[in-house]
Amino acid sequence: MPAIARAQPNIALIKYWGKRDSHRNLPAVGSISVTLADLFTTMRVEFDDALSDDLLIVNACVNEDMLPRIQRCLDNVAGARRHPARIDSESNFPIAAGLASSASAFAALVVAADAAAGMGRDTARLASLAGSASGSAARSLYGGFAELENSGDEIKVNCLCNAADWPLRVVVAITATGPKPLGSTAAMEISRKTSPFYSRWIEQQPQDLTEARNAIAARDFAKLASVAEHNCLKMHSVMWGSRPPIVYWNSVTLECMQAVRELQSQGVAVFFTIDAGPQVKAICEVADESKVRSAFGAIGGVADILASGLGGGASLIDDD
Ligand code: PMV
Repeated sequence: MPAIARAQPNIALIKYWGKRDSHRNLPAVGSISVTLADLFTTMRVEFDDALSDDLLIVNACVNEDMLPRIQRCLDNVAGARRHPARIDSESNFPIAAGLASSASAFAALVVAADAAAGMGRDTARLASLAGSASGSAARSLYGGFAELENSGDEIKVNCLCNAADWPLRVVVAITATGPKPLGSTAAMEISRKTSPFYSRWIEQQPQDLTEARNAIAARDFAKLASVAEHNCLKMHSVMWGSRPPIVYWNSVTLECMQAVRELQSQGVAVFFTIDAGPQVKAICEVADESKVRSAFGAIGGVADILASGLGGGASLIDDD
């Protein structure tokens, strides 16, 4: 039977950067993210022995580049002796542009493939399978604020706070369209091998995680803002200190960060974070969203602005 799942990307507030075991895709650090509500990937998976081979269709186009990664994930979910699969993926936001599309894609893929293969795994097991394909994807199995733990041999995620219990908004400034120059797996390895700041990054992560966890438990926006911006800039410092340097930002990225600083100086509850790409994600309180949107909208180089609330984890949806 075909199965369809939907998953939302998540945005890390305390970042995952670096692998402890690249073979099993185990992260070198824990991380904390927020799962979005309004950006999503819908994934339909059907195993069919009449097919001669796996077929991946992304946003209505056959895609061979991503197929090997998808196939490895399907083998993990349904077993290497599975039937060939037809996989249809659609996202309502730009993919491979630093918006965590691989997180929503692999979270949706494991949920759909597990159901299509009749396996019936629980969320924890599905998160572990998603995390083996893309570390951050494990967090998209959960909604609200999710923490990916860095311990043991299995990828483990906990929900720290449901979306409805702290309804923040995320406003994304698209500062460049098109694919990013270097994927996160390759970039993490360059950082691990060459950045003089990498070991300090690993050492300091537990204290950033504790600070963020406490801020979330207390719903303390200012404390969360401070540790999240610090952690983001530290991750990018690790990248900038790598050889060759890994620089995902452009001049508009910096203008957006400056705009957030300006809003903060006016008392607006907002902070920025940036992942492996040039887009700037501003997290703000619901009442401040329009101020953030107008500040980004006033920057000439911002190509688009997306906004979302916080949402739930990946789930199966009806086929209609
Ligand atoms: O899950 P990956 O391999 O795409 O790595 C994600 C890395 C960051 O987005 C930069 C940080 C994070 O925790 O999501």
